Amino acid sequence: MKICIAYESKFGNGKKCMEYLQSMLAEGGHEVDLFSVREKAPSALPGAELYIFSAPTQVGNVAGKMKKFLKKAVIPQENSKYALITTCMDPPKSKSLETMGEILDQKGITKAADGLMIKVNGMKGPCDEAYQDQLKAFAKDVISSRA
Ligand SMILES: Cc1cc2nc3c(=O)[nH]c(=O)nc-3n(C[C@H](O)[C@H](O)[C@H](O)COP(=O)(O)O)c2cc1C
Repeated sequence: MKICIAYESKFGNGKKCMEYLQSMLAEGGHEVDLFSVREKAPSALPGAELYIFSAPTQVGNVAGKMKKFLKKAVIPQENSKYALITTCMDPPKSKSLETMGEILDQKGITKAADGLMIKVNGMKGPCDEAYQDQLKAFAKDVISSRA
């Protein structure tokens, strides 16, 4: 399956998580395009069956760079799905997954699986030790939703 992972990451924790997710999905035989939303215009999203968007929670909600990117994003392929990830210090209070989902739901793309919150221990990280297991379970979920 062709998968596109677009991330925002201020201190590198989300980036590290997405690189791990990419390597895991690639090992499973999927073609994975990974990039930062700082590197690509939202109108230039590559075609994919599945889009994974990952961003930090800042001030209770999704980081501004990702919010802007999603609002302007052009989904080039019909029948594609999305899945969402946020890194945050206080998962129960984060509205990031909700906000990203609301923006995407208006773009004719449907949710592949429940979103994932990865806890970071402090503003600059590191990620909680459970992050690799969380990402393995997440990868399984999103792949089975498209099988
Ligand atoms: C300006 C700012 C505000 C933040 N506000 C919150 C917050 O309200 N809730 C929270 O859980 N984490 C908050 N954080 C912590 C970020 O979620 C954390 O820095 C991020 O998940 C780390 O991922 P990254 O290294 O990929 O940027 C904030 C971080 C910054 C820089």
